[in-house]
Amino acid sequence: MSSEIMTADGILSTLAPTMKQGGFYNENSTLQGQTVSTGVPMVQSMALAVMKTIGLEEDLINIADLGCSQGANSMRVIQAIVRAVTEHSRESNIPTTVNTSSRPLSLMVFHEDLPSQDWQSLFLQVEKKDGSSYLNLPGCQKKRDESQTTQQAVKNYVPNVFSAAIGRSFYERMFPDRFLHMAVSFTALHWISRCPDAYPGASWYHNRNSPDEVQKAWAAQFYADFENFLRLRASEMKEGGYMFISLPGTPSPDAELNRKNFVRDDLDAAVLSMLDDGLMTQEYARSINLPTYLPTESELQKVFNSVADVWEPSGFSSSPEATTVYISCWDDFVKGSLTAEQLGQQYEDFWRAVSESWMTGQLQQTHGLSLEAATEILNEMYSRIKRNVTSNPRQSFALNFMGTLKRRTPSLSSTIV
Ligand SMILES: C[S@@+](CC[C@H](N)C(=O)[O-])C[C@H]1O[C@@H](n2cnc3c(N)ncnc32)[C@H](O)[C@@H]1O
Repeated sequence: MSSEIMTADGILSTLAPTMKQGGFYNENSTLQGQTVSTGVPMVQSMALAVMKTIGLEEDLINIADLGCSQGANSMRVIQAIVRAVTEHSRESNIPTTVNTSSRPLSLMVFHEDLPSQDWQSLFLQVEKKDGSSYLNLPGCQKKRDESQTTQQAVKNYVPNVFSAAIGRSFYERMFPDRFLHMAVSFTALHWISRCPDAYPGASWYHNRNSPDEVQKAWAAQFYADFENFLRLRASEMKEGGYMFISLPGTPSPDAELNRKNFVRDDLDAAVLSMLDDGLMTQEYARSINLPTYLPTESELQKVFNSVADVWEPSGFSSSPEATTVYISCWDDFVKGSLTAEQLGQQYEDFWRAVSESWMTGQLQQTHGLSLEAATEILNEMYSRIKRNVTSNPRQSFALNFMGTLKRRTPSLSSTIV
């Protein structure tokens, strides 16, 4: 059977966990956007660190944006990098030769995601002329003029910025050896490469109350995928290069946060209630399992320990103030400018944005359901999310682990084979 199916967006898609197309994810990803807001200062520090260690010797800086999706959030991340590099270049007088240099500093940005994702929306974001893209940033416009003084040339200096895209899984190699100077990945690395096989006898829908054996199988898949990802990127990263990662995680079992509503609980409650009501079979529930795993801090640490020969991590703490984000518009609801029903709609749209394409494809591909039949089941699931929130408004949270990894300089013994 072909691995291509029609999704509810009416777009031919391969079976892959991509976001809801037609720009829907861009419009309904404010939760992920809050994570970006928290991470941007750390990304700026990383860009400065890169410039201070390796940037001065280079005239081309290669930057990867891993799991970029439709780009609205990526624009802010890459803007922060371009601004940091521009400031640093001006302050360190890199452009003192700007009038004569034939090779000014250039930044090459590679946006990466799965081949079937909504690339059109990404390209439209990059080309926007309203100041939201990192290309032609206000204050970073080119003002080269042969007659300007050196001082003016320094003040007006901007690097050249270019953009490209790569449609390939980040669980594969995608760059040559020692190519990248820095990489960023926001809210993408919890997408594992596959759902583990079902454990016989256990409920097939994976959630935070699944039996230990099921949890272990999902954790093992995460360990394997995350280590693979980190080793692949280590090969592609220049020595001394940096990678910033932010991925959603699970609070440790004794954490205070566990008393609050976890964003994933809203989805799970809807699926589990449909199983109880006989509106979803165990087989369907298994198929729509999202291939995601949200590690605890100690699970993350375990993977970092296993790649300690190539990466040096810093900053990955689960301090709730630093890393917890709440689904958007809760404050608006509290202030009364958003009704409970509108709040419920936001939760529904958040879940549609991240899961509808995958789940629709799964029901069609695995069970041969028509698009209409798959959509009917999922519409019931999403409307349950909305109903549950409308009748019991809540501030669901997501926890993020974010920090920077520095590519270690390979030891002599590991470079001589
Ligand atoms: C929730 S979106 C995050 C997008 C964006 N970084 C942001 O912060 O809004 C997760 C993205 O990861 C991508 N993704 C999932 N698995 C992937 C893989 N194996 N390789 C590359 N991208 C993947 C999805 O297609 C999706 O676009």
